[in-house]
Amino acid sequence: MSVPSDCIIRGSSGEAITADVEAALRDGRLQPGDPLPSIRLVAAANSLSPTTVAAAYRELRRRGRVLGGARRRLTLAPNPTGAAPVAAPPPAAGSVDLASGGPDPSLLPDHGPALAQVAAERARPGGYGQPAVDPDLAAWFRAHLGVEHLTLASGALDATERALAAWLRPGDAVAVEDPGYPDLLHLLRLAGLVPVPVPLDGHGPDPTALAGALKRGARAVVLTPRAQNPTGAALDDDRRSTLAAVLGAHPDVLVIEDDHFGLVAGRYQPLAAVAPGGITRWAWAYSVSKGLGPDLRLAALAGDPETVARVGGRLAAGPGWVSHLLQRSVFHLLCAPATDRLLAQAATTYDRRRAALIAALAAEGVAAHGNSGLNVWAPVADEAAATMALSHAGYHVAAGTRFRLASLPGIRLTAARLDDPGPVAAALAAWRTGTPHRGG
Ligand SMILES: Cc1ncc(COP(=O)(O)O)c(C=O)c1O
Repeated sequence: MSVPSDCIIRGSSGEAITADVEAALRDGRLQPGDPLPSIRLVAAANSLSPTTVAAAYRELRRRGRVLGGARRRLTLAPNPTGAAPVAAPPPAAGSVDLASGGPDPSLLPDHGPALAQVAAERARPGGYGQPAVDPDLAAWFRAHLGVEHLTLASGALDATERALAAWLRPGDAVAVEDPGYPDLLHLLRLAGLVPVPVPLDGHGPDPTALAGALKRGARAVVLTPRAQNPTGAALDDDRRSTLAAVLGAHPDVLVIEDDHFGLVAGRYQPLAAVAPGGITRWAWAYSVSKGLGPDLRLAALAGDPETVARVGGRLAAGPGWVSHLLQRSVFHLLCAPATDRLLAQAATTYDRRRAALIAALAAEGVAAHGNSGLNVWAPVADEAAATMALSHAGYHVAAGTRFRLASLPGIRLTAARLDDPGPVAAALAAWRTGTPHRGG
C-alpha cells in the first residue's frame, strides 16, 4: 500500500497522534468543524495500526475535542472558549445602524419606577429558600400565556438552550429555520448539536421540508412563531395546523418555540395547543427582551410538565434561580399601565416602519420580506458587495451569511428605528443597477 504523504496528523504512537491533533488545533493547521482524516489514512501515513489510531481518536472524543462517531464522520469540536465563529463587523463611524436587530430604545419603558418599587418592597436583599419563580410573576405569565407549567430562564435563547440540554445529547440533529438566528446556530455548534436546515417562507417553516428533517432523525425543532430573524416570517393559522400535524406524528421530538418578540406581538397559543396529545415534548420561550428591554434577561419557559421540571431542576442545581430582583422588576413593569400603552405603540410603530421600508424598496424595484418583527430581509446576489455599497452610502446592514446554512444570499435590514427608508432603498437600488448613488 502506498503511504499518503499529505496527512496532516503525525505521530509515532497513539499518544503522539492525540497530542498532534491538539497541537494542530492550537496552531491553526486544523479548525473547529474540520473533519478528522480517516483512521485508515492516519494509520498508513504514520505506519501505525488502525487500532492504535482508533484508540487515539476515542481519547480525543473523551476530551471533548471531536464530535460524531458511530456511523458519522468525526469532526473537530467547536472552540471551547465559545468565541463566535463569524462575528458581525462593527458599524463604520457615523453610519446609520440598520444591522443591530435590537428594539428601539425609545419604545422601551423607563425601568426607574419599577426599580424603585422593588427597592421599596425589599428593605433587605432576598436570601436562599424563596420559591424559584416569584408567585406574582408566575400568576401573570399563567394568566397571559394560558399555560399551566412554567419556569424562568435568562432570555429566550437561554430557555432554548436549557430545553435542548434537557433532552438532547451531542451529535443529535436539530431542525432549524434557514435562514435563521445566528446565535442559535452558534449555540447548537457549541453544544455539539447538528443543525438541519429547513427552508421557510413568509408564514414559517416549509412543512414538507420539516417532515423530511424529522424523518431523517432530527430530535428537536426550534422555530420562531413570529418576528422570525432574519426574514420576519410569522406563522398563520393554516401553517400552524399543518406544522402541528407534521410534528404530531413524531411525539418524541422536542418542539421549541422561540417567542423572543412575544410580549410585543401579543396573544399566541403554542403549537402543542393546536395538536393536543400529539406534541408531547415542548417548550415555549416567551421573552420580555424586545418589549421591556434586553438587559432584563428574563423569559418564561412554558411547556409540558416533564420538560419544565427538567429545566427547572437543572436551573435549581446550577444558578439556583433567576434573580428575584429581576423578577420583581419585570413584574412591576408588566403591571404598569404605561407599559401596556407603550407595548401597543411599539407593535404599531414596528409594523409601520417595516412596511414602509418594504414599500420603499419595492418602489425602487427591490423585493424584500418581513411580515412581523424588527427586520426586513432582501435577497441579493452578492452579500459582500451589497453591504459594502450600503456602507459607502452611510448604512450599516447585516450580511446574510451568518444567518444561512443552505439558503440563498440576502441582507438583513433592521427597520426598528428607521423612519425615513427612502434613502437606503435608493442606495440599494443604485447598487443593483450599477448607477452612482446620490448619497444619503
Ligand atoms: C430569533 C431570536 N431569538 C432569540 C433572541 C434573543 O432573545 P433573548 O434576549 O430573550 O435571549 C433574538 C434576539 O434578537 C432573536 O432574534
